[in-house]
Amino acid sequence: MASCFSPILIIFFLLHTANPVLGSYKSIFSFGDSLADTGNSLYSGQYTPAAQLPYGETYFHQPTGRASDGRLVIDFIAQSVGLPLLPPYLGSGKDFQQGVNFAVGGATALDVSFFDDNGISYNTKYTLGVQLGWFKKLVPFLCDSSSDGCRKFFNTSLFMVGEIGGNDYNNPFMDGKSLAEVKAFVPKVIDAISSAIKVLIKEGAVTFMVPGNLPIGCSTLYLGLFGNSKKEDYDKSGCIKWLNDFSIYHNNLLEKELNILKELYPNTNIMYGDYYNAAMKFYQSPDSLGFKGGALTACCGSGLSRCCDNPSTYVNWDGIHLTEAAYKVIAVNLLQDHQQSFPNIRNVSEVAPYKPQASDSLPPNSAGASTTFFYIWAFLVLCFFCSLYR
Ligand SMILES: *[C@@H]1O[C@H](CO)[C@@H](O)[C@H](O)[C@H]1NC(C)=O
Ligand SMILES: *[C@@H]1O[C@H](CO)[C@@H](O)[C@H](O)[C@H]1NC(C)=O
Repeated sequence: MASCFSPILIIFFLLHTANPVLGSYKSIFSFGDSLADTGNSLYSGQYTPAAQLPYGETYFHQPTGRASDGRLVIDFIAQSVGLPLLPPYLGSGKDFQQGVNFAVGGATALDVSFFDDNGISYNTKYTLGVQLGWFKKLVPFLCDSSSDGCRKFFNTSLFMVGEIGGNDYNNPFMDGKSLAEVKAFVPKVIDAISSAIKVLIKEGAVTFMVPGNLPIGCSTLYLGLFGNSKKEDYDKSGCIKWLNDFSIYHNNLLEKELNILKELYPNTNIMYGDYYNAAMKFYQSPDSLGFKGGALTACCGSGLSRCCDNPSTYVNWDGIHLTEAAYKVIAVNLLQDHQQSFPNIRNVSEVAPYKPQASDSLPPNSAGASTTFFYIWAFLVLCFFCSLYR
């Protein structure tokens, strides 16, 4: 008997030890900016256009603080692994056992003191460092850190660190800093992301997804600000080459740093999230992915009161942020790139429609708060139209 069972036992044993970090996740912790913010910006009381419809119209049928018509990459990842949508840390929900989202619209990887010192404006003080502070404060409520309870708990968590860094470049670019000046920030941004990952590893985090930057040269806002009549500045998709090269520069440094971390911490699983190449798929062939409205024109390109009827045929939502349909393409590609770490995922196209939850209620006076951010926002939109009709 024993001899006929042992081969099976050995195979069973091998299957269960060969891939220590594989399997499904019991919770997700997310850090980042508006590409991942599921409501923090709104609940923090800072100005966000995402406090009102048509933001949220597609999946939620109400504004949720997400800077899109619907779900973000992080939402699709949560649904794919069978977890609930991540509650925002600053929201009214307080059950974070299955994860929580610390991402805040406008957040930078670098501390605000860096921007103060360099005379660069910024939209929020809730930087990656602040978000990490929130996480550390929350840990004692999630698990028993005196024993190895937290290590066990975080062992089955997915840590999504980013996308973060985009605003560290948006801010100086919008303030008129030169490419050379902004490029000098990149190593500092990578350092900040790397330090955050190290802090999380110390807390017991094992599995990471660290997204890179999107091709900013294809962004409607950047096209408006930096567009010109020089054909040689553009690639075949109509994107500005030097701006995309800048994104690639950030991404290459990030990947290099992640490889160093993987060697430093061989028991972790640190995945690079290739937002850039996932997004290039719809910028290069929008039609074949159903983006009939094109990839470079924003659905709400003529002001938020006049948005397109069918956002799912557009890549760009409001000039800076993407539509749910575009985020879905990115999420699906990300999960495919890292199939081994995401076995047996659910097909997000078959996820049930949204059911409003009690914790959805928006904070009072979330709409209409007009701060400097509004003026910056309005100014950018104006710049965009000036450049269109130049
Ligand atoms: C984490 O989980 C893997 C199996 O999924 C296990 O081999 C490893 O020992 C766990 N580590 C901790 C610290 O619990
Ligand atoms: C996911 O579901 C959709 C709709 O049912 C289907 O068209 C698509 O082929 C599925 N995708 C995969 C990868 O199974």
